[in-house]
Amino acid sequence: MTGSLKDKLAINGGTPVRTKPLPTVGGIAGRTFGDEELANLTEVIRSGKLFRFGGHFVQDFEAGLAELIGMKHAVAVTSGTAAVHTALAAIDFEPGDEVIVPPITDMGSIAPILALNGVPVFADVDERTLCMDPAAAAAQVTSRTRAIVAVHLAGNMCDVDALGEVARGCGAALVEDCAQAYLAEDNGRVAGSIGVINAFSLQQSKHISSGDGGAVVTNDPELASKAAMFMDKGWDRVIGGREYLVLGLNYRMNELSGAVATAQIPKVREVVGNRRRWAESLTSQIAGVPNVKPPYVRPGVKHSYWFYPLTWDVDATGVGIGDFCKALAAEGLPAGAGYIQHPIFDTPCMRGRKTYGSSSYPYGQAGRDIVYRNEDVPAACRAMERLAVVPINENFTQEDVDGMAEAIRKVALAFSG
Ligand SMILES: Cc1ncc(COP(=O)(O)O)c(C=O)c1O
Repeated sequence: MTGSLKDKLAINGGTPVRTKPLPTVGGIAGRTFGDEELANLTEVIRSGKLFRFGGHFVQDFEAGLAELIGMKHAVAVTSGTAAVHTALAAIDFEPGDEVIVPPITDMGSIAPILALNGVPVFADVDERTLCMDPAAAAAQVTSRTRAIVAVHLAGNMCDVDALGEVARGCGAALVEDCAQAYLAEDNGRVAGSIGVINAFSLQQSKHISSGDGGAVVTNDPELASKAAMFMDKGWDRVIGGREYLVLGLNYRMNELSGAVATAQIPKVREVVGNRRRWAESLTSQIAGVPNVKPPYVRPGVKHSYWFYPLTWDVDATGVGIGDFCKALAAEGLPAGAGYIQHPIFDTPCMRGRKTYGSSSYPYGQAGRDIVYRNEDVPAACRAMERLAVVPINENFTQEDVDGMAEAIRKVALAFSG
């Protein structure tokens, strides 16, 4: 029986479950760009004012994002990486100070720490949520800990209460990295409203996008002012003049990006609502399918599904995540194996401590020898070896989702003999 199910897999020459391409974030079919963005862009071009301090769209975007998240201030920047950089620069720590981060994330959560001469310290994830485990974070605290970056991976929420407690206990700042988690919620609190200063990305693949772009949000006027100066070469435009008060870069969003970002803000609720609907439909349709687990969502949490993290039981089946994903792709469901596939530090830049020239700075400034070992983050490694990144898109149809569920059922059954 199992043999015949395996023979029917598209990867073995059988008929694929679905052949119609799914809408993807890489093109218009899977994005929400339309007349609103075009009208704003036309206004910018006709005005001749492409610089943010000549127009109004970047400011409109900042006001819209602050209102959406329920924070008093938003400062737009040029990317999610720039947003994390700006948030951490506003916190302002000493060279060699430590920032606790999770091992499953984008480099944009990590590189800014080194760019500020801080040292990233990794705390393992909760294998079920893929988000930082508060107990692992607590175990990494030292007298040099200055911030904890809580990455809400894939749109799931970190345990922000427990992480907040760890941060408060050591006098560190809790910073949320919400690049993948627009409108995710934990007991009514939206992602980005809990940490002291929190980062968003508007890169092409995010829930809303301006191609590239980002922002920080905060309730603290001092942090907002520091962020605004950091992204503007240290220039305080409130007091005017041409004094550069602090060290800053040019991370200013321009009006073309602002025009698109402003038009995207009113669309994000529907984007997240649709993604939840499709994800929940998929979850209910694969209930009872052997050896697959839908994303774990803690009670009180609302996931916002940047992607749909599906867990495949490699131990019970003896089928690796790569083969599982290849079989899904052949059935017309392009799933990716393992997201980043190895801990973010297990990469030449970090393994080789490639920072400034041959100095390895700031690693030598840390109060202890920082060594990155995969065996110190076993839950992250285990999770990625079992993780299928299943796409979710706001523009899916019920037919798309039914076919995706059927593909998962077919492959899981065939590999479960
Ligand atoms: C969690 C996380 N943080 C930061 C970033 C960096 O964002 P950007 O690519 O806009 O610089 C990303 C991008 O994917 C991300 O997923």
